[in-house]
Amino acid sequence: MDFHELARTRQSDRKYADTPVPREVIERILETTRIAPSATNSQPWRFVVVDEPDIKNQVADALTTPLVKNMNQFAREAPVLIVVVEESANATARIGNLLKQRHFAHMDLGIAASYITLAATEEGLGSCIMGWLDERKIRKTLGIPRHRTIALVIALGYSTEEKKSKKRKPMDKIRSYNHY
Ligand SMILES: Cc1cc2nc3c(=O)[nH]c(=O)nc-3n(C[C@H](O)[C@H](O)[C@H](O)COP(=O)(O)O)c2cc1C
Repeated sequence: MDFHELARTRQSDRKYADTPVPREVIERILETTRIAPSATNSQPWRFVVVDEPDIKNQVADALTTPLVKNMNQFAREAPVLIVVVEESANATARIGNLLKQRHFAHMDLGIAASYITLAATEEGLGSCIMGWLDERKIRKTLGIPRHRTIALVIALGYSTEEKKSKKRKPMDKIRSYNHY
């Protein structure tokens, strides 16, 4: 698949076959993610792959809430969840954050998440990024230290969903040349 087709093919999948994902596939996805760009090459990330069913279901439960019906209930169906943890930035990125009042790690982790989902698409896998999560519960389940932030959880698995059309803002609402 060329990159444009890959981007069009990727979608948030919320139905998965009961088929395990081989670890060598996960390793290829993360090897590609490892080379993603980050501010000052800080690489402020760690990826916890959760594929042991009991642990995975505990993490899946931490993605749901009684407040919103069906919120992330599908995550239990996914055979793999990747927990994206924000690690300490390097000194240069920290200085940059302070001077420019930015938090570059958020951008870095977003880029890494898109590498994961696009590499997953290339491997024939479905994926869904999830930002609604109970950080405390996931930390406890996976032994993630309290001073670490959990940015996202990404579901991976062989999708049984049909291809959906993309609902997006029209180009003339999002693009301009030479002026805002
Ligand atoms: C940062 C982020 C957080 C998201 N959180 C959730 C989530 O908690 N649950 C969910 O079902 N989808 C979540 N999504 C998926 C979006 O709903 C989805 O990307 C968007 O509707 C566009 O659809 P598409 O991915 O199929 O193209 C999230 C996506 C991003 C990028």
